[in-house]
Amino acid sequence: MDKNTRQSLFEKARQAAEKSYSPYSKFRVGAAILCKDGSVFTGTNVENRSFGLTICAERSALTAAISAGKTEFEAVVIATPDADYPVSPCGACRQVLSEFLGKDAEIDFGASADALQSSTMGELFPFDALHELGKRS
Ligand code: THU
Repeated sequence: MDKNTRQSLFEKARQAAEKSYSPYSKFRVGAAILCKDGSVFTGTNVENRSFGLTICAERSALTAAISAGKTEFEAVVIATPDADYPVSPCGACRQVLSEFLGKDAEIDFGASADALQSSTMGELFPFDALHELGKRS
């Protein structure tokens, strides 16, 4: 992903974070997912008073894209404006993203566009044998 695309995705993720519903953690997160056709979908974290039902920004963005009929993705950029360090996707989000993102898909996260940690799906979710099982027919 080139620098301009990364910056523009970060800005969309940052704007999504402003919509965060996070009265419990007060930790806003935004995510922007780039589809292979060039379209972009965003999501934010949506908390719940039954804490375990919280939906992270990454799953929020992915489900918005899937709901619009997209199934092929190139990259995800995650903005965590309330932390001055990069916050990587949680284990549940890694599992869910890996359902649709190939191991080379780029996943970047950070508090600002110039301090993004770059990663890939394969680095965040290695040894994904279940993904291979899904290809059996
Ligand atoms: N959160 C995300 O949305 N994505 C992450 O990658 C890390 C955590 C949310 C969940 C919860 O609403 C808040 O951040 C604190 O954990």
